[in-house]
Amino acid sequence: MASIGQIIFWSMIVLIFVIAGIIILLLAIAFSVSQGSVVTNTPFPVGNLGKDVMLGCKFQTKTGQISSSVSITWQKDGLTGVVYQFQNNAGHLQDQNPQFKNRVTLFPDVITTGNASLLLRTVRMEDEGVYRCSVTASGVTGSASIRLRVGAFSAPNITRSENNSLAANAPRWLPKPDVTWLDLNGSQLNSSTQFSTLTMGIVQVTSNLQVQVTDGIYTCIIQNALVTALSTATVTGNGVSTTTDFTFNSSPNIMKSHVISTSFILFCMLVR
Ligand SMILES: *[C@@H]1O[C@H](CO)[C@@H](O)[C@H](O)[C@H]1NC(C)=O
Ligand SMILES: *[C@@H]1O[C@H](CO)[C@@H](O)[C@H](O)[C@H]1NC(C)=O
Ligand SMILES: *[C@@H]1O[C@H](CO)[C@@H](O)[C@H](O)[C@H]1NC(C)=O
Ligand SMILES: *[C@@H]1O[C@H](CO)[C@@H](O)[C@H](O)[C@H]1NC(C)=O
Ligand SMILES: *[C@@H]1O[C@H](CO)[C@@H](O)[C@H](O)[C@H]1NC(C)=O
Repeated sequence: MASIGQIIFWSMIVLIFVIAGIIILLLAIAFSVSQGSVVTNTPFPVGNLGKDVMLGCKFQTKTGQISSSVSITWQKDGLTGVVYQFQNNAGHLQDQNPQFKNRVTLFPDVITTGNASLLLRTVRMEDEGVYRCSVTASGVTGSASIRLRVGAFSAPNITRSENNSLAANAPRWLPKPDVTWLDLNGSQLNSSTQFSTLTMGIVQVTSNLQVQVTDGIYTCIIQNALVTALSTATVTGNGVSTTTDFTFNSSPNIMKSHVISTSFILFCMLVR
């Protein structure tokens, strides 16, 4: 028979373990929440050669408060040094890779709102790759990765041709796109498209619709693996007015290859 003393002793031990367990659990929850988050809304941006591109990155702390001592580091996979580093409210560029000298900036005015986005100027082909935005501040530690792809794209100028048809002219595309014309009902219309090569493989696109047009709405779609330009041409009287929307294709190929390589690794592990 256990004495009262022993029962109390063991009860205390059990109680201590239970309380310790609860405290550890609470700490773990508090700690994981207090990590905050670092995310991007645009994981697959497409840069337009020679133009500027924004690499989006934002962060949030558990409390929503952002202290003034935010440290932001942008790095590019496979490249030494940093793309840009921000510490103590200033750029720290001693370790900046020369590729990015005078070409990148953050937006210091909005960092305390959780905006760690990077502006990259005059995009070049070699800027393609995976960028990592890492943020450290009180209440937030983390990183987000952004895969930048680079091409060329431009809105077409759509005009009425002499033979009462339409012609679209887009000055710069890379890689070489496909062109499709649709009527208001979404039926495909015959057309013929020519490409003339400019510098660096960039092509000028000229596409002639091969049907006569009447007043109404026509759609011209210029599309490559990176970008889709959807132009709506409204034909009235002698004039044509055009609006173009660009959408950046998310990277199904990249995702697929990730899935495949992951399954392949799993498969190899199973076979072993
Ligand atoms: C960050 O701020 C810049 C400049 O104000 C703005 O253009 C950009 O859209 C912002 N990015 C995000 C993710 O909020
Ligand atoms: C579109 O083409 C018309 C006719 O060739 C030309 O007058 C006009 O300047 C062009 N507009 C643009 C934005 O290129
Ligand atoms: C679109 O479809 C309607 C109904 O089928 C038809 O009457 C019309 O002619 C079509 N318009 C074009 C431009 O093909
Ligand atoms: C489109 O072109 C094909 C082949 O040149 C031709 O057989 C067809 O009739 C054309 N369609 C229209 C709607 O003009
Ligand atoms: C109009 O002319 C262009 C070439 O100038 C040609 O490609 C197109 O087929 C012609 N369209 C029609 C409806 O004949």
